[in-house]
Amino acid sequence: MAKYRLVKNEKKYWEFIRNLRTMKGVAEGFIAQRDITPKQQEKYMLKYNDCFYICLNEREPVGYVGIIDDDIRVATHPSYQGKGVGTYMINEIINLNPTAIAKVKVDNQASLKLFESCGFKRKYYILEKE
Ligand SMILES: CC(C)(COP(=O)(O)OP(=O)(O)OC[C@H]1O[C@@H](n2cnc3c(N)ncnc32)[C@H](O)[C@@H]1OP(=O)(O)O)[C@@H](O)C(=O)NCCC(=O)NCCS
Repeated sequence: MAKYRLVKNEKKYWEFIRNLRTMKGVAEGFIAQRDITPKQQEKYMLKYNDCFYICLNEREPVGYVGIIDDDIRVATHPSYQGKGVGTYMINEIINLNPTAIAKVKVDNQASLKLFESCGFKRKYYILEKE
């Protein structure tokens, strides 16, 4: 049985986060679609490093979770999705910041399921003109 733990973000994980955030099958889950260069990632992480945590399975990074301005962002590596990593990360991060919220795309079933199974309720709609 996998044993996960959450560790503080460090420079050695910055590329893991960037690769996962931009990976096909992961990137589409996020509201903003963009390529991120290593340089852009470095700049972003110099500012927000401490907002992120990494989920390790043994020593292997398998996901990340971060909260910026009370807004949760989360991703699990595709080879670990559906194995409880997301649930573990959200439950842990919510202990650290119980008031945080998640903004989720209406068609992101995995993310909606994840947050709802961690006790979040749908509260708002954001409507955009196409
Ligand atoms: C959303 C995401 C983080 C979920 O992580 P995960 O590690 O697979 O989550 P878990 O294994 O803990 O599953 C959580 C719940 O979601 C359900 N779930 C997982 N993947 C699913 C999928 N593709 N479709 C429907 N439900 C799914 C699980 O069955 C589980 O529900 P349960 O507790 O009722 O059994 C992951 O799919 C991901 O990284 N997606 C791409 C990035 C993304 O969309 N991030 C969120 C932006 S708001």
